[in-house]
Amino acid sequence: MRYLLDTADLAAIRRFCDIFPVAGVTSNPSIVKKEGKIDFFAHMNEIRSIIGPGKPLHIQVTALDTEGMIRDADTLLTKVDKEVYVKVPVTMEGIRAIKRLKAQGVHVTGTAIYSSQQGFLAMEAGADCIAPYFNRMENMGLDPDGIIAALAEMIRLYQYPTEILAASFKNAGQVDRAFLAGAQTATMDPSILEGVLTQPHITNAVAAFDADWKSVFGECTLAEL
Ligand code: G3P
Repeated sequence: MRYLLDTADLAAIRRFCDIFPVAGVTSNPSIVKKEGKIDFFAHMNEIRSIIGPGKPLHIQVTALDTEGMIRDADTLLTKVDKEVYVKVPVTMEGIRAIKRLKAQGVHVTGTAIYSSQQGFLAMEAGADCIAPYFNRMENMGLDPDGIIAALAEMIRLYQYPTEILAASFKNAGQVDRAFLAGAQTATMDPSILEGVLTQPHITNAVAAFDADWKSVFGECTLAEL
């Protein structure tokens, strides 16, 4: 299992990369919007410098047509670096862009995936990662667990080199389900990770351990004994 941060908030990326085993960072234009009118490439380069050169940084194209997506990809590779995973929505224009970018050896992530067949096509077009939108599918009455399981089964059966990068989560239970269905990787808002480790029952348990220790040893910590 790998955890990615689905945010462009620099302070959050710094903080959560320090605390959690974060494998990389993803964003999309809606996530970028939350940061305001940033100096986009400087911002993405800052994310790269925070996470380091070895971790995947996924950045989405904004053009809607194949040629524009390819120009966006070239710009990302030039102004950020050659290791960027170029996120391309799996549309009619997008799938053509995925094929062309893979022919050039670019890392590509097929995104905005709402069905198994859309994912299969992205796999066959050569996408390195595919991003099924878990919460959005659930909201539509679809079966995100089954769709991710189908993607995982085809990857296993035909040994595609594709990674399932599940996205669009609103709670940790959805992340559990995506991993159990076969997603190797999940990208999420940092608040979901924080929520996992800050539940009241956890802090209450730790407070009880602390009180019991101090009732016997006072303020002396284990290291100070
Ligand atoms: O990475 C895609 C994801 O950010 C979409 O999430 O919360 O807008 O459904 P959401």
